[in-house]
Amino acid sequence: MTTRKQTLLFPGAQGKFEMPKPVNVASVPQRSPFRYPGGKTWFVPTFRQWIATIHPKPTILVEPFAGGGIISLTALFENLVQDAIMVELDDEIAAVWESIVNADAEWLANRILTFELSKESVINEISRIPCTQREKAFQTILKNRTFHGGILAEGSGFLKYGENGKGIHSRWYPATIAKRFVNINHFATRIDFRCDDGLKVIQEFSDRKDAIYFIDPPYTAGGKQAGKRLYKHYSLDHEQLFSLCETLKGDFLMTYDNAEEVKNMARRHSFQMRLIPMNNTHHATLEELVIGKDLSWMDAFPSVHEPETTYVAQKIRKKRTTKPLKPDVA
Ligand SMILES: C[S@@+](CC[C@H](N)C(=O)[O-])C[C@H]1O[C@@H](n2cnc3c(N)ncnc32)[C@H](O)[C@@H]1O
Repeated sequence: MTTRKQTLLFPGAQGKFEMPKPVNVASVPQRSPFRYPGGKTWFVPTFRQWIATIHPKPTILVEPFAGGGIISLTALFENLVQDAIMVELDDEIAAVWESIVNADAEWLANRILTFELSKESVINEISRIPCTQREKAFQTILKNRTFHGGILAEGSGFLKYGENGKGIHSRWYPATIAKRFVNINHFATRIDFRCDDGLKVIQEFSDRKDAIYFIDPPYTAGGKQAGKRLYKHYSLDHEQLFSLCETLKGDFLMTYDNAEEVKNMARRHSFQMRLIPMNNTHHATLEELVIGKDLSWMDAFPSVHEPETTYVAQKIRKKRTTKPLKPDVA
């Protein structure tokens, strides 16, 4: 059974509520070899907080839209779960996770350390057709680290100026990236990676009480474009995802953009919502949505305002009463 602190019915209702400050990502251990568009490093402290409220401790974390995988990696490195089921549909990203699982993390680390980076060498490398999965993985890391915003979707191109005008060199830290592969290698046997549809894998685990789910889909609900620009795979049946979440025996958390369509879906499925601040790449503070079955542990965060119910006063016309007929007297 899950035991949790009692929630306030209307957190912040007294008007004293202050939105917590966005997490400073520099305070979170960076464990992913990717710089991932829409990455959830900023969510790590909240994720830890959530897991600490779940009793008994979950065995499995399912991450159906893994991307750069920071949440699964955190859960494994910090022993928050035994195993992580990571799912990602993008074959290039998948090649990296598959290489790690297939004991090629050290090979990748070495390839990164010995690569002489220049625009020509990168173009030369990424225009080759890879013969092995680990070569494809290396090409992916190279693109991810030299393309604008780490974006691999169509239309993406090289970093022009990058940090301090260093161009393609500005996100290429060979020693750091190689070290991350070496570190992940220690946990590789605890990763079950699938290049598959996240919805299918959620369904596969839906009966397991010891499984929890961190769900971070591409933000495309209601025709929104945000996810379309960033990922090769962006179309998703969001309604089906919400319906699947209702069937889960284990607990789940979803993160979404703060969009009306998403809030309406959450309402229809009777899920709870909270707003959480985050800083985007332009250092602007935005609010994202956290959705779950029971978010009482998130009392520090404002809940989503429900639309006011309007009461329509109806004029009720008095029915003209007709005189009852006199009963027949026998
Ligand atoms: C918002 S990103 C996840 C970011 C991740 N949480 C992180 O911290 O790096 C969504 C990911 O879902 C992937 N994706 C899209 N549709 C998918 C599907 N049906 N099954 C699995 N992955 C999918 C995209 O390729 C993208 O990498």
